[in-house]
Amino acid sequence: MSEAVIESPVLNAIFDRRSVRHFTEASVDKALVMEALKAASWAPSGLNNQPWRFGLIRDADLKAKLGGLTRYTNVLKSASVLVTFFLDKDSSYDYVKDCQAVGASIQNFLLAVQARDLGAVWIGEILKNKDEIRRILELPDRLELMAVVAVGHPAHRNQSSHRRPIEELVLFEK
Ligand SMILES: Cc1cc2nc3c(=O)[nH]c(=O)nc-3n(C[C@H](O)[C@H](O)[C@H](O)COP(=O)(O)O)c2cc1C
Repeated sequence: MSEAVIESPVLNAIFDRRSVRHFTEASVDKALVMEALKAASWAPSGLNNQPWRFGLIRDADLKAKLGGLTRYTNVLKSASVLVTFFLDKDSSYDYVKDCQAVGASIQNFLLAVQARDLGAVWIGEILKNKDEIRRILELPDRLELMAVVAVGHPAHRNQSSHRRPIEELVLFEK
């Protein structure tokens, strides 16, 4: 007798989430961004130190300025909102663990965005200019940029992706 597979919304969201790089011109509701940031803030962190800090950018000039600092210019310019994720060094107790925690918060954010039928992509390539971005945004040294996430209403859902077979990734079972 085959076992019944019980549907899981969490697993479905994880498997269905794709990076979205093309957006319509529709604006994203602030309440939905705040909800997704709340999900981000519910990520785990070492000692529960919650080292993440967030910024929201909707201003077209600022989006264009940041867009000039990455080769993903059009993704940044066409997004309804850019969400910046920072590590607050004043809340940091272990650099690697704190970066991992901010990464976990970004993934929570992406899944929350997906849950509301919005689209987003994690832009890491822009980090080569993180100090310049801190200057543009007039932020103190203690805030280290970890990612910019472009958020909008997806222009389409044709994204595909692939993963290596799990058998290649599990190195051992002793
Ligand atoms: C640390 C990190 C940095 C990334 N940087 C970029 C980026 O600069 N530009 C981009 O288009 N996608 C970026 N991505 C998204 C990846 O390209 C994407 O997650 C990967 O290709 C798998 O596709 P999927 O998200 O649709 O499953 C980044 C993802 C991570 C986790």
